[in-house]
Amino acid sequence: MADEMNQKQEEEQPIPLLTPHQMGRFQLSHRIVLAPLTRMRSYENVPQPHDVLYYSQRATNGGLLIAEATGVSDTAQGFPHTPGIWTKEQVEAWKPIVHAVHLKGGIFFCQIWHVGRVSNYEFQPNGQAPISSTDKPMTQNIREDDVPVEYPAPRRIKAEEVPQIVNDFKQAAINAMEAGFDGVEIHASDGFLIDQFLKDTINDRTDKYGGSLENRCRFALQIVDAVCNAIGADRVGIRLAPFTDYNEAVDSNPLALGLYMVEALNKYKLAYCHMIEPRLASVFEKSKCAHSLLPLRNAYEGTFIAAGGYDREEGNKAVTQNRADLISYGRFFLANPDLPKRFELNVPLNKYDRSTFYTSDPVVGYTDYPFLEIAS
Ligand SMILES: Cc1cc2nc3c(=O)[nH]c(=O)nc-3n(C[C@H](O)[C@H](O)[C@H](O)COP(=O)(O)O)c2cc1C
Repeated sequence: MADEMNQKQEEEQPIPLLTPHQMGRFQLSHRIVLAPLTRMRSYENVPQPHDVLYYSQRATNGGLLIAEATGVSDTAQGFPHTPGIWTKEQVEAWKPIVHAVHLKGGIFFCQIWHVGRVSNYEFQPNGQAPISSTDKPMTQNIREDDVPVEYPAPRRIKAEEVPQIVNDFKQAAINAMEAGFDGVEIHASDGFLIDQFLKDTINDRTDKYGGSLENRCRFALQIVDAVCNAIGADRVGIRLAPFTDYNEAVDSNPLALGLYMVEALNKYKLAYCHMIEPRLASVFEKSKCAHSLLPLRNAYEGTFIAAGGYDREEGNKAVTQNRADLISYGRFFLANPDLPKRFELNVPLNKYDRSTFYTSDPVVGYTDYPFLEIAS
C-alpha cells in the first residue's frame, strides 16, 4: 500500500523539464525553450501577420521563446525572407507578434544576427561583397535551405569599421525593446559573423581582432558590452557553439575558446548563456563526440541553456543531472506547437517535415502542425 502511494506520488510529480526556473528577472514556469528557428517567411525582411499565429501557438504561460535570427542591418542577410529589426517598419511589424506571445504569458527574446560571409551579392546593398573577419570565401556550395550556391570572397572589414557593426547590434537591441521583446539573444554561433571572428580556422587577422584568444573574442565581447549597456545585462542572452563546425567554423581548441568566453561573460550577469552540444558537430545529425558541454556549464555562473538533439528523456536527464538549467528544442518544437503539453503527458510527437523548414508558405509546414487532441 505504502509502495503504491509512493509510486502514485512520484507519478504526480512534474517531470524535471516542467519544473520552474528563475532566470534572473524572469520567472519561468518550465524549462522547455523554443530554439531560434529561421523559417524564411518574413517577406522582404519584414515580419508578417502569419508569424503572430506561429509564435503564439508555441507560447505558454512562463515559457521562454527565442525568435528566429533577425538581421541587425542591411548587410546582415544571407538568406531569402529572413526578418530584420533595423527599420521602423520591421519594428512595427514585430509588435503584434510580441504582443500575442505576451498575451499567453510567454517570455520572448529576439535573436539578433549578422551572417557575415555566409551571404551573396544578391543580399547585399548595391550588390557589394559580404563582410567578414577574413577575405577567405566559404567553400561549401549548398545553402542551408538546400539551394546550390557559390559564396563570393567576402570583404575583410577594417578594425576602424568594427564600432559601426557593434553599434548595429546595440541599435537592434534597442529596437527589440521598442518592439516589446523581453530581451535579445546575441547570435554568436553557427559560423555567422561573430563566430567568424571567434574561430581560428576562419579568423586570419593580424590586428587587435585576430590571433590570440583575447583578440578573437574582442568583437563578441564588445557587442555584449554595448548591448548590455543599452538594454541591461539581465535582458541579454548569447548563443555560442565552440565545438561545432557549422558553416565551416572550426576552432583548433574549442574548449579553451568556450572557457575564455564563459569566464569573460560571467562578469556581465547575463540572462543566460545558450550553448550548442558538441554532438551536433555536423549540421543537425547527432554523432559520437568526445567533447562535452559540462566544463562550460560548470564554469558559467548563470542560467545555462543546452541545445541540440534533445528529446524528452534526455532533457529530463540533463536537468536532473544539473548539466543544464533549460533545454532548447528546435525541430521538435517546430513540429509540435504544444511540445510542453506533449512532454507533460508523455504522448507521441508529430514528425517534422524537413522539406518545409525553409519554404515561404505562410501556413504549410508553419502553422498547420496539429495540436494534440485532448478528450474533454
Ligand atoms: C529550420 C531550422 C532553422 C534554424 N534556424 C536557426 C536560427 O535562426 N538561429 C540559430 O541559432 N539556430 C537555428 N537553428 C538551429 C536550432 O536552433 C537548433 O540548435 C538545432 O535545430 C538543433 O536542435 P534540435 O536537435 O532540437 O532540432 C535552426 C534549425 C532548424 C532546423
